[in-house]
Amino acid sequence: MAAEKKHVCPVAFAGSLDIGIRRWLHDPRKMLGPHIKEGMTVLDVGCGPGFFTVELARMVGPSGRVIAADLQAGMLQKLKHKIQGSELQERITLHQCAPNRLGVTAEVDFILAFYMVHEIPDQEGFFAELRSILKPGGRIFIVEPPLHTSWKAFESSIKKSRDAGLMAVERPKRFLDKAVILQRA
Ligand SMILES: C[S@@+](CC[C@H](N)C(=O)[O-])C[C@H]1O[C@@H](n2cnc3c(N)ncnc32)[C@H](O)[C@@H]1O
Repeated sequence: MAAEKKHVCPVAFAGSLDIGIRRWLHDPRKMLGPHIKEGMTVLDVGCGPGFFTVELARMVGPSGRVIAADLQAGMLQKLKHKIQGSELQERITLHQCAPNRLGVTAEVDFILAFYMVHEIPDQEGFFAELRSILKPGGRIFIVEPPLHTSWKAFESSIKKSRDAGLMAVERPKRFLDKAVILQRA
């Protein structure tokens, strides 16, 4: 059966992903700091205009790398403008995904999927692909929004991740959002 078509956050909404209140609501250092070490390779999947990518690149330091992957060239273009001419440019690789395949082949220590899993039609295939590039001991941090994702849909995503060979190791508490950390089972 063909996977259900999902709504994808349009590039025209990119500005709303960079508004100031997010620094407080979704403080990247507070949320991701405990998981990120210098020198890591991190995948920010569905990076949008790079709200988290930029801070992740600072956290991994000069010896680390962030792969910023998105379906939409327009989102990647916004991120490109943001980092152009800065020292972070060297640490960030922009990658455009195909609709049903991420196509990232590098092995990664950490994956962030923030507010994007509900936009994926074939979630089991998506999780299988993430699992295939996750280093042993690596972690996948998923955060889903309050309005677009019901608890039922969130639990269903976790089940699909289990079917793809991942296991939930932590359920971080987040104001309004739903979050889970996955590792290879
Ligand atoms: C709501 S935005 C969130 C952006 C970013 N994670 C943030 O929190 O600022 C969701 C992003 O996921 C991307 N996306 C949706 N489906 C995707 C897919 N199949 N592969 C890669 N990116 C995808 C969209 O293009 C969009 O930029």
